[in-house]
Amino acid sequence: MNDEDDLCLCFHVSRRKVVQYIRVEKPRRLSQLSNCYGAGTGCGWCRPFLQRLMEAEHPDSETLPTPQEYAEQRRSYREK
Ligand code: FES
Repeated sequence: MNDEDDLCLCFHVSRRKVVQYIRVEKPRRLSQLSNCYGAGTGCGWCRPFLQRLMEAEHPDSETLPTPQEYAEQRRSYREK
């Protein structure tokens, strides 16, 4: 997943916006990321990934699935 790819697919919040928000605002709880254009407040699929970035020492270099894999996994998640 590149910087311009959507990390929160529900609200089209890019990875870049999330990483920038984490860097500047230094949220202490996952729920605080909702202030970043609503990230994580829809279907919930992206929350574990948001959490990973929050906990990473270098969130911009954290490895995430490709956009295609990510979207496919989310589709399965939403069908359950
Ligand atoms: S993908 Fe982020 S809340 Fe659905």
